[in-house]
Amino acid sequence: MTDNSAQGSAGRTADDVNAKGRQGRNVFVKTYGCQMNVYDSDRMADALAPEGYSLTQVADDADLIILNTCHIREKAAEKVYSELGRLRLLKAEREKSGKRLMIGVAGCVAQAEGEEIARRAPVVDLVFGPQSYHRLPELVARAGNGSTVVETGFDVADKFEHLAKPSAKAVRSRGVTAFLTVQEGCDKFCTFCVVPYTRGAEVSRSVGQIVEEARRLADAGVREVTLLGQNVNAWHGEGPDGRNWGLGELLFRLAEIEGIDRLRYTTSHPRDMDDALIAAHRDLDILMPYLHLPVQSGSDRVLKAMNRKHTRDVYFRLIERIREARPDMAMSGDFIVGFPGESDLDFADTMDLVERVGYASAFSFKYSSRPGTPGAAMADQIDETVKSERLAALQDLLVRQQRAFNASLKGKRMDVLFEKPGRHAGQLVGRSPWLQPVQVDAPESLIGAFATVEIDDVSTNSLFGRLVKGQDRQESNGSVAIPA
Ligand code: SAH
Ligand code: SF4
Ligand code: F3S
Repeated sequence: MTDNSAQGSAGRTADDVNAKGRQGRNVFVKTYGCQMNVYDSDRMADALAPEGYSLTQVADDADLIILNTCHIREKAAEKVYSELGRLRLLKAEREKSGKRLMIGVAGCVAQAEGEEIARRAPVVDLVFGPQSYHRLPELVARAGNGSTVVETGFDVADKFEHLAKPSAKAVRSRGVTAFLTVQEGCDKFCTFCVVPYTRGAEVSRSVGQIVEEARRLADAGVREVTLLGQNVNAWHGEGPDGRNWGLGELLFRLAEIEGIDRLRYTTSHPRDMDDALIAAHRDLDILMPYLHLPVQSGSDRVLKAMNRKHTRDVYFRLIERIREARPDMAMSGDFIVGFPGESDLDFADTMDLVERVGYASAFSFKYSSRPGTPGAAMADQIDETVKSERLAALQDLLVRQQRAFNASLKGKRMDVLFEKPGRHAGQLVGRSPWLQPVQVDAPESLIGAFATVEIDDVSTNSLFGRLVKGQDRQESNGSVAIPA
């Protein structure tokens, strides 16, 4: 189990400290990139809470601004520098009126570029990578003494042991769904990807740590938990039975926790979909029928050059097995067009794969050459206009599939977990089992609860429905408490 004193403040919560009237300061965290960064941003706020920092949604109100950055594509990384340009002006204005504004750059750009950020943008006080943020109070204190602090170590096990624990109130204020990082880093080295360099080697959290965090989430009123990892299904660890567990076994264990009614996980790699995980999809009702399983390309030649370590046929067979186990499974994926050497024929293979699989949703990108990756040094880089044409054709097909999937749900009844107020007054928005947002006329008292909804209308990204009278229900292993 996790050591409770690991927080450094021995079980104290932000609420305890703030109640004692410690001088309030504000932190603003801007998050770029993937869900793992979303999780990390919350943990940064949690680490700073016992120091008297409250989270603000307004940059102008902040004493500390943290950009939690993404390095995956060139555009994502460049955004950081334009944002830092704006912050330079804000900081200068503050200084004119004798006030201090501290600026930190966190996340994958921080890890990849380190000192270079401080050189290129002297406005930055603090640079720290994804494995260092549990030490934020100490790093902020050091930066407060005037020197620029750069911290890009790789001790992920230390981070997992010392992750800050939010109060139940802080957890619940973030909603009834939550992310839970179970695995971090990657050993796969796809030739286009920076993740193995920015997040480091694959590390799994222990079963004890994960179960404890899931319990805390459930106790605070969270009802849907999404397990996160760069390769979440590469997660492995020693089970309480002494056997080596994979993600499938872990999901069975988490499903026993009272109060957790829905489980999801992302992002998975085709190579790590083992039998136990497929069995979990067959046997666990609370494991939602939506699977993000990126394939990147439909061409065997390109898959090989990308070092994905599987063929298109392996992917097809896998999807067949998954759909056998869970016939209502909706598939999602990621695609890259214009990888070096990708010919028209290779791209046609990708279109063919998409046609054959049928995706409920997907993300697709133009290949972006990343410094230090093998792909960047490959001959035959593809022209930008060709990449744009291929992306447009692929996205057109994917959007048609997404619309068709949504349309297939018209007239159907489904359980919706309501999360927050919807687009219009009197509406709530929740999620379907297949992850689409569902807009429904419903009373605010249903936030945090499940209800049966009949779908009347659909758009590309959303479903629209109405409550089925007399069918409101609570899924939670018999528990109906929705903490305020
Ligand atoms: N671990 C996941 C992917 C994490 S990165 C997997 O193996 O599938 C998220 C997505 O960003 C990838 O799936 C890929 O589609 C995209 N991506 C990663 N590097 C990229 C690059 N250099 N150019 C364009 N897209 C990229
Ligand atoms: Fe990147 Fe490949 Fe690892 Fe996914 S599996 S994070 S794409 S190197
Ligand atoms: Fe970006 Fe790092 Fe996530 S590069 S996609 S924030 S792991």
